[in-house]
Amino acid sequence: MTIRRLPLWLALVAAAAARPALSQVRVTSPDGRNAVTVAVREGKLYYVVDRDGRALLTPSLLGFEFRGAPRLRDSLRITDSTRNTVDETWTQPWGEVARVRDHHNELKLGVAETAAPNRQFTLAVRAFNDGVAFRYEFPAQPNLGDFEISDELTEFAMADNARAWSIPSNRPRLDRSEQLWSSSPVSVLDSVQTPLTMEARDGKTFIVIHEANLVDYARMNLRGARMEGRTLRADLAPWADGVKVRGHTPFVTPWRTIQIADRVTELSPSLIGLNLNPPSVIANTSWIKPMKYVGIWWGMHIGTMTWSSGPKHGATTANTKRYIDFAAANGIGGVLVEGWNVGWDGDWIQNRNAFSFTQPYPDYDLAEVARYAHAKGVKLIVHNETSGGIQNYERQIDSAFALYHSLGLDAIKSGYVTDKTSEGHSHWGQFMVNHYRHVIEKAAQYGIMLDVHEPIHDTGERRTYPNMMSREGARGQEYNAWGGEGGNPPEHETILFFTRLLDGPMDFTPGIFDILIERGTGRPRRPEEPRIRTTLAKQLALYVVIYSPLQMAADLPENYEHQPAFQFIRDVAVDWDTTRVLEGKIGDYVIVARRERNSPQWFLGAITDEEARTFDVPLTFLDAGKSYVADIYADGPGADWLTNPLPVAISHRRVTRATHLRLALAPGGGQAIRIRPATK
Ligand code: NOJ
Repeated sequence: MTIRRLPLWLALVAAAAARPALSQVRVTSPDGRNAVTVAVREGKLYYVVDRDGRALLTPSLLGFEFRGAPRLRDSLRITDSTRNTVDETWTQPWGEVARVRDHHNELKLGVAETAAPNRQFTLAVRAFNDGVAFRYEFPAQPNLGDFEISDELTEFAMADNARAWSIPSNRPRLDRSEQLWSSSPVSVLDSVQTPLTMEARDGKTFIVIHEANLVDYARMNLRGARMEGRTLRADLAPWADGVKVRGHTPFVTPWRTIQIADRVTELSPSLIGLNLNPPSVIANTSWIKPMKYVGIWWGMHIGTMTWSSGPKHGATTANTKRYIDFAAANGIGGVLVEGWNVGWDGDWIQNRNAFSFTQPYPDYDLAEVARYAHAKGVKLIVHNETSGGIQNYERQIDSAFALYHSLGLDAIKSGYVTDKTSEGHSHWGQFMVNHYRHVIEKAAQYGIMLDVHEPIHDTGERRTYPNMMSREGARGQEYNAWGGEGGNPPEHETILFFTRLLDGPMDFTPGIFDILIERGTGRPRRPEEPRIRTTLAKQLALYVVIYSPLQMAADLPENYEHQPAFQFIRDVAVDWDTTRVLEGKIGDYVIVARRERNSPQWFLGAITDEEARTFDVPLTFLDAGKSYVADIYADGPGADWLTNPLPVAISHRRVTRATHLRLALAPGGGQAIRIRPATK
């Protein structure tokens, strides 16, 4: 902390002190429904959030604790305020929707300490029709130069004991995103991750707390309320020495976002976070293209192939060419190859510094597969598993990315299988936030798209860097392949949609047809053993429900051969103009319709939990006066995820805007529909 008292600064403080303080200031959303009121009470700064005049968040404290400096919380006054309104619409290079409207009212409040060390900051608040957001902005100032934040004191005091769907954030060895959600009243939450989705007890308001534009700061979790009623507190992931954020003014924090909707179906697609990120810094985005892909991947997870060298090595030149041929023959854009590079032999999680990102195994001819893929019009997705060996990766990043670029390879799937970095920092702390950002920037520099596994949660980075395509960051399909930890229950994806997927795309890796994973074992699995806990039709529906611009057809190519249902995976789009959530209940079911970008085609995905359900779906989203054909992939007779997962009934029928479709979903089932213009 620099302590320098400049005459100019003294003059500014004196001038501010001479003006009457504002004790309460309010900003409302353009539709007038959402309001944020910021007030000072007994020197402390609070905010309140209302909707339609009803409190959603009661007075919630703002402030910081510093190491080596007094806390910034008491003796505060609001010195001034400025207002601004923005209404502009921008186009995404790819996404769940093509056009995004950013319409908000902004209030900026100058806040100053009335006692030494007389620090000051601006609280920026934005009120949108779909929620509100705020962040702290610190200008350069004499008494706040270098700083170490030991705690962010931001609170979210929930007015209602809402029902929250959460995964914990602070379990030993479990401070990771790959967990099963549970629901509970806010008042009993312990320590949870965001996005945190909550439903008011009257079922009439949905609230999601998250963050946007996480840059050079620590990821925010929420510390639960157990002892404090319904008040959640920001809980930042630490450096190894416990400090949360190191910085130097001028400095801004990420936005704290509170998305608000009347109906659960209005939560998705969630756009507030994208609107709070700066526009793209990549001028030419024409090389950034969503695609479907297959990969040398599932075989490793079910044990028929290995990442490491040896007789079952998956990433051989011959095997990769087989996958490339399959992709080319089926209109699939990419092939992921895991285990191609030296470093997988032995314990690859412990031996994190053994990974080379340039040296292939001897049975993998990188230049030749790159040439072959290019000749077939298929893209290779290069795999970079780091095991959290950050220095090892950063040391090689330029030579590796330059090599990939020289071979025309423009997509990477990266991995960070680890709980802590080699330096002992939380893998969600500022150190890792900066690392992930460094990789995004390097990838942009070399013209590379990214699919990040074991990421930090998505805070809208894709707006500024559209090469940041997809990430994992939740339990994906792979959990169904493993023994021990148990698979994903039938309700899993119906929760994912309203929680994790509100922050951004997920590389879930759908499309397993060998539901019972017979290939790994030579016999059908028993229900308690690793297997997929959906019907086959639900695997198809996931292509529409779970949004990812890099969307995998995850099964082995041989499991798709001669399967009529594979036609849906060939046909389904990966880039969307419009998205409509038609029905939904968190943990129970969801129905999504999406129109393909630059196309009149619609796709519809419906999924349910372990309960069979039927729905009447009016196709009012179709254009009036046009006739369409619906290709329907429904759960077949007697389908049931547990006892009979495979039957798929494929049918075709004419539909128009006036048609109502009756969707019958089996237990753990789903339905996938392509709706294309009818030809004469
Ligand atoms: C975990 C990732 O989620 C998975 O997709 C990958 O195959 C392994 N790590 C190895 O990197």
